[in-house]
This record gives sequence, structure tokens and C-alpha cells, in this order.
Amino acid sequence: MHKITVKVAKPYDVIVGDNLLKDCGKYITDIDKKVQKVLLVTETNVAPLYMDIAVSSLEAAGLEVVTFVFDAGEQSKNIETITKMLGLMAVNQFTRTDAVVALGGGVTTDMGGFAASIFLRGIKVYQMPTSLLAQVDASVGGKTGIDLKEGKNLVGAFHQPSLVLADTSLLKSLKPETFIEGMAEVIKMAFISDKKLYETLKTKVNQGSANLEDIVARCVELKAYVVEQDEKDNGLRQTLNFGHTIGHVIERNSNFTLSHGFAVAKGMMRISAKSPILPELEEMLKLYEFPYVDETSADDIIEGIMNDKKKRGSKITAALVNEIGSCELKTMTVEEFRDLL
Ligand code: GLY
Repeated sequence: MHKITVKVAKPYDVIVGDNLLKDCGKYITDIDKKVQKVLLVTETNVAPLYMDIAVSSLEAAGLEVVTFVFDAGEQSKNIETITKMLGLMAVNQFTRTDAVVALGGGVTTDMGGFAASIFLRGIKVYQMPTSLLAQVDASVGGKTGIDLKEGKNLVGAFHQPSLVLADTSLLKSLKPETFIEGMAEVIKMAFISDKKLYETLKTKVNQGSANLEDIVARCVELKAYVVEQDEKDNGLRQTLNFGHTIGHVIERNSNFTLSHGFAVAKGMMRISAKSPILPELEEMLKLYEFPYVDETSADDIIEGIMNDKKKRGSKITAALVNEIGSCELKTMTVEEFRDLL
């Protein structure tokens, strides 16, 4: 088991290890003596597998549990779903000391966190990520939000969790493509900040790998460091966008039929087209069986980016990797960006 403390204004722990979910109630009540009710937010794929385990544990710890299950998928990540969660908390007379528990992948952790950030001007959220992507990225660092039809994550808030429980035993039951999707974020972390992790990943990691817990914990450590330096995403944190600026466009242009991690893999390739690390990146994405060839035209990429919230003013800040293990942010004109593709 690993414990990583994210040292932001209100520090919190990310616990990474096997078989944590069955004790989630105790983990919460050990650090929170005031909470009485929780809204357990989850989705239709995760609920049949893990909702009962979570509810039993929360109830055994003396908590009243209200459950909210939404249709799995990015198409649910909208204001209507949030309104339903807020209504449910209001009807059940949640107070400022009650909390949201988000049990699921990135869509769930983003939405659970966002509902918590605005209900009664902010209540606590406990993140229980069940996917690799959510364990290594989405659940840590306090970014929460929803999509608009105009773009992904256009509405949201920074709202740090009070605790993250990354139960790595849950990763064994993921559909293989969901696991691989998360590997895109792990590969991203290695390329932007940790050459040693890159070397580790060259031996293919799978759902049963003995070093999976260590890899998740390493990614959390790397992300915690970035968030501690730049909680509000004004500088260093933008390095986490390697492959994402273009990836978001590819994801949206596919009408979300291509999931986030797969789009990010393609995005990393496109933004690295002229980088010396391209052969190593291609080799790594091949090893994990990512379809990484992308034929979106430069015009469509530029147009999509102009609608993306990560563009500031008329310039684009690109996260570029020219050496494995380090990432450079470069703000450039649209034409300069086009030259990279
Ligand atoms: N997922 C990128 C970030 O947390 O900044």
C-alpha cells in the first residue's frame, strides 16, 4: 500500500493499494467526524460490480447513504445530470458537513467533484476511482466539471477531494480497452516527467502485473508534485496536457465514439510529429496496441483547438516533449502550431 499526501492548501491523502473499497466507510469516518450522509455517485457499468461493496462499507461506518446512478458514458457528463444530483441532495436535506462519494471512472469523479463543489457553495468529496485513468489522473488534483455541447470540460471548478482511495484490485475487472485507455495517461506521465517510468513501461504492463500498484502510485506522486506547484493550472500543470489539446479535438470530432485515452494517444503522436522522441513514442503506443494513426486535417485540428478552453487568447500553448522525461510549454501563433503537425 502507498500513501501520497497532496500538499495543497488543505492537504489530503491518496491511498493506493489492493482491497481498499471494502473499507471506504472507515477511511472516511476516520478523518471526518462530522459527516452523517453521503451521496454515492456512480454509473451503470460500475454499480453492478461495486456499489453494494461501497454501500455496505459506508453504512457499516454509520453513514446514511443516498445513491445516484447515471448512464455510463461521456454523454451523461452534462448539467442535467448535475441538476439531478443536486436535487437529490436537497430533497434528502444534506448539510454542509455531508459529502459526495464518487465511485467510478473519470466522468464520475469529474461530475461527483463538481456537484460537491457547488452544493451549498461546496461540500466535501471523497474520490473512489475505479478505472486506471481515474486512479492516475482524473481523481487527483481537484479538477472537476462537465461538458457543454460546444466542448469538453468547459464548465467546472477546482475542488480538491478530502481523500482519494485508488483500489488497484478493481483494475483487474476492467474491460481490456478501458485498462489500455488508462495506459495512455501512464505513458503520458512517463514521457513528460519520468524516464525511469518509461523504461519500466517498456516491459508490457497488464491488468495482472505485479508492479501495477507501484506504477499507479508513481503516477500519483508525479501528478501530486505538479498540482502542488501549480494547483490552478497557470503553468507547470499545463504539461499534463501533452497530447490532450489535439486529443480533445479528435475525441470530439469522433462524437465521443473514440474514448479519451485513445484520443490522447493519437494527440501525443500528432503533437510529436517533428520531435526526436517520435520513434520511441510510436514504439510504446504499438506495444500497448493503441491505434495511433490519425488523419484529422491540420485545418480541422486548428479549428477544434480554437473552441477549446485550453487556448488562451489568439495563441496556443503547446506541451512538447523533445526528450523523454521532460516537457516544455511553448506559446505560439496558430501558424507556428500548424508547422508542428
Ligand atoms: N488532467 C489534467 C489535470 O489534472 O490538470
